[in-house]
Amino acid sequence: MDLSSYTPMGDKKNSDYFNEYLPKVYERRRQAGLDENVGNMIGVAIQVEAGDGISYLAELAAMGPYRVYDSRATPTHRVFFLRSQPEFPRLVVFEPLTASYIDEITHWNLLHPLSSRKPNARYIGEIYRAESVQGVRDALEPQNVRFVYPGDTVNAFFTNDHFAFTVPSEFTYNRVGYSDHDLDDVDGLGIGEAKPLSAEEQEVLDRAAALQAEHGIADLILGLDHMATRILAGEREDAILEYLTLVPYYFWGAYNINEMNSSTNVTRHPDIDDDKKSPARVFTANNTPSIVNSFENLPMPTEDFVRNFGQRMHHMAMAVIDGHVAGEKNVDYVVAQLEDMGTKFLAKVVGECTDDPNLKQIFSKSSRYSLLITEYIERCHHYEGFFTRDNVAALTAAAGADERYEHGHVFD
Ligand SMILES: [Fe+2]
Repeated sequence: MDLSSYTPMGDKKNSDYFNEYLPKVYERRRQAGLDENVGNMIGVAIQVEAGDGISYLAELAAMGPYRVYDSRATPTHRVFFLRSQPEFPRLVVFEPLTASYIDEITHWNLLHPLSSRKPNARYIGEIYRAESVQGVRDALEPQNVRFVYPGDTVNAFFTNDHFAFTVPSEFTYNRVGYSDHDLDDVDGLGIGEAKPLSAEEQEVLDRAAALQAEHGIADLILGLDHMATRILAGEREDAILEYLTLVPYYFWGAYNINEMNSSTNVTRHPDIDDDKKSPARVFTANNTPSIVNSFENLPMPTEDFVRNFGQRMHHMAMAVIDGHVAGEKNVDYVVAQLEDMGTKFLAKVVGECTDDPNLKQIFSKSSRYSLLITEYIERCHHYEGFFTRDNVAALTAAAGADERYEHGHVFD
């Protein structure tokens, strides 16, 4: 794919500033060797509260394809490694050993009213395959990208020899990580000590997986389709330029969601046959900040989410395989079964899948462990576009309606 001649999709207008720097970012990436050094997304890192680890893993086992394949103990955390299909990214779940654990995440979560209830729960970032992590640092540090080094952060995973992790972005509060090592070889990574799940813990996860299988949905949910981060109105273009500086993705395009006063901005890997091998990263921002929106008083769930939780990952989307179960589209069947298993959803499945390529999507309620919403998305008949405006508007409205900010709750 020739990035220099690609015309982004969508109707969201970008500034001249963005249009000037986007090709410069691509060109610098090429010159610095980053496109050669850095490959697919191979992992996604998430932290939960002390005591929530097994419950979160059980939730993942019931709601999707991810299963634990290794478990470690470090001086600060239990670290769980999960996979779905071998060619899709792993999940790395951190659980602090004690409730009094504090790092950057804790401080950041405490600054925002709804995240302060779960001060260690946060999506941390993505991990990309790199031929050389030193090569990544050499390429990006001259570009004002900051990496963490031993002593910079409490969680030593981020400063392990086989990884390079950035300092969290000021725009998204996510890190980007790189690894030169196979994440399946956890011994070789040298992460803490092996700490297998106890028999009781394994039983909890096995029960969740068995329940999923009994409901006939185990083979219908494939893997991560995309992750969507919510950012401040004024930082949309900078957040995208920053991300595209760090990883070999391209700006696929952006659509205005007028009725929600927001835009959805999509970055993708340019060179894969299946997005699930390196899922798209989506950025959602209000078109105007809340104070200016008060002139129009449009709905603004995106800006409210950021004010409530801070800039953070909002949802992870899981792809549902396209097809039917007993005359029902797979996503409708999956959602009905998950509801039967106790999963709560926001509103209904949106979108149509008749004979034409299209999309059906739904948001779950946010996880009490990760605070992340899970989206289920069925791309019917090889839908080529990434999303539909109507679906996004409906999903955004549903997510906003579920959030409750009230004065005084911080000190309940
Ligand atoms: Fe989404």
